[in-house]
Order: sequence, then structure tokens, then C-alpha cells
Amino acid sequence: MAAQQVPALHVQGLEKSYKQLRVLRGVDFDVARGSIFALLGSNGAGKTTVVKILSTLLKSDAGTASVNGFDVATQAAEVRESISLTGQFAAVDEILSGRENLVLVARLRRLKDPGTIADDLLDRFSLTDAAARKVSTYSGGMRRRLDIAMSLIGDPPLIFLDEPTTGLDPQGRIEVWNSVKELAEHGTTVLLTTQYLDEAEQLADRIAILHQGRIIVNGTLAELKQLLPPAKVEYVEKQPTLEDVFLAIVGDDGKDGDAGMTTASARTSEEQP
Ligand SMILES: Nc1ncnc2c1ncn2[C@@H]1O[C@H](COP(=O)(O)OP(=O)(O)O)[C@@H](O)[C@H]1O
Ligand SMILES: [Mg+2]
Repeated sequence: MAAQQVPALHVQGLEKSYKQLRVLRGVDFDVARGSIFALLGSNGAGKTTVVKILSTLLKSDAGTASVNGFDVATQAAEVRESISLTGQFAAVDEILSGRENLVLVARLRRLKDPGTIADDLLDRFSLTDAAARKVSTYSGGMRRRLDIAMSLIGDPPLIFLDEPTTGLDPQGRIEVWNSVKELAEHGTTVLLTTQYLDEAEQLADRIAILHQGRIIVNGTLAELKQLLPPAKVEYVEKQPTLEDVFLAIVGDDGKDGDAGMTTASARTSEEQP
């Protein structure tokens, strides 16, 4: 019972600077086991920095973080055994087939029956038909799905997905979203970072907005929407979108020419010149 009550992630007072640049100024959040948690923030907000600290690749300057009850600073080996990290750029081998990539990782992890493990994952991520093809022939969405499948080998209870759909076309994004939903249905805890409001809205049980080094809001989509009263037009209630909530909280100033939050409508207009 006690172990069940330990959250998958517990983050408190996390601070990190790169020389003069104070990126994290006291980040706090918890992630419940088996949930999908979205860390939402503009480009440069510090999302990857948080993920690197939680996955023991980077040390924080202050604060504490634990994964399944293991401290990232003092129990790094135990933390690494509980997690898997998929970065913004797919780490698959182009020369090998999808199946060969999976078998290779299963062998490296010294697991029994790598072929069966590979076939099960190919099936789960709808890659069976492409299993024997070289990855160099895969679409962006297929590569990212294969990357996620590879990171699941060895059944890590917690997976970090750092901007899993950045750079994908709309079809690829939907494919990856389905894969992320698949993960959660199997009980894997997911921390995903994104700069896309619609992605957080689609996938996450809870959404936290990282802005100027702190988590400025953290809640379910419904809770976030309640931060703004619904706009009443006669007798019809119009619910605010997550984008309305975000802009109301952050302000739509957009700092120093930094690429701001990408909205669905902005992307759509780019795609249809
Ligand atoms: N190794 C580093 N050295 C110096 N500055 C860095 C380093 N890594 C990241 N930064 C800076 O820290 C800020 C946050 O980066 P990052 O965590 O990658 O943000 P995000 O993932 O949200 O886009 C950015 O301004 C980035 O340029
Ligand atoms: Mg990043």
C-alpha cells in the first residue's frame, strides 16, 4: 500500500541556471502513477531542462526530485531503472528495419526472446506491416512510434516524451497521439513536454504550464478552463479553450522575439498558403 501512495514523480523547489541564465526558479509538481502529465511551455521555457534533471542527465542547483520514491541526485541508478527517455529527435537506426531495431535493443538489455518482444511492440504500435522495411523508408510519424516502442523495451513504469510530435505533419501527430494513449492504457506513467496546446488538451490528465522558471498553473483541463468564466452569449455558454486560459494567464506579449506557443490555428494557416 505504502509504495502505491508514492507518486511516480515528486518535484519540489527545482532550480537550475546556465551561468547567468536562471531557467528554473523553483519548479514544483507531482505526477500520479498511470497518468499522462503534460508540461506545457514555449520554446526555451525550460521543459527539456526539467526532463534532463528528472532522468539524471543533469544536476539541479537546488530542490529535490524523486522518481517512484527514488531521489534523482542520490539514487540515480534506481531512477534510471524506472524510466525511459525519448528525446525530440528519434534515436532509431536508419539502416536497420523496424523489427531489427527492436530486437537489437532487447538484446542489449539481455531480455529473453527478443523476437517475441519485437513482434508484440510492432503490433501494439501498428508497425507490423512495415516491420521488415528499413527505417530510412519510414514516415516521421512511424519513426517516432518506433522510437516510443523501443523506449518501452524492458517495461519501464515511467516514460518521458520530450516534444514527441515536434516537426511531424498532422497525420504523424495523430499517430503519435494514439501511441501515447496506448501507453497510458497499459498503465505506463507518461510525462510529456509540448509547446502545442492542442496536444496537451488531447492527451493529458493534468496540464502544468511552465513559464518564467515556475509552474504557473497545474490542473486538469476542466480545472484550467474554470480559471476563466465562460463567456455568456444569451443562453449559450461558450467554454474558454485552453489557449484562452493560457493567454489570459501568461499574457500574449511573447518575450524577446522568442518563438511563442504554437496554436492549432496558426499551424493550420501555415499549412494552407
Ligand atoms: N547547456 C546549456 N547551456 C546554456 N544554456 C542552455 C543550455 N541548455 C539550455 N539552455 C538555455 O536554457 C533555456 C531553456 O532551455 P530548454 O530547457 O531546452 O527549454 P525548452 O525545452 O522548454 O525549449 C533556453 O534559453 C536555452 O537556450
Ligand atoms: Mg526542449
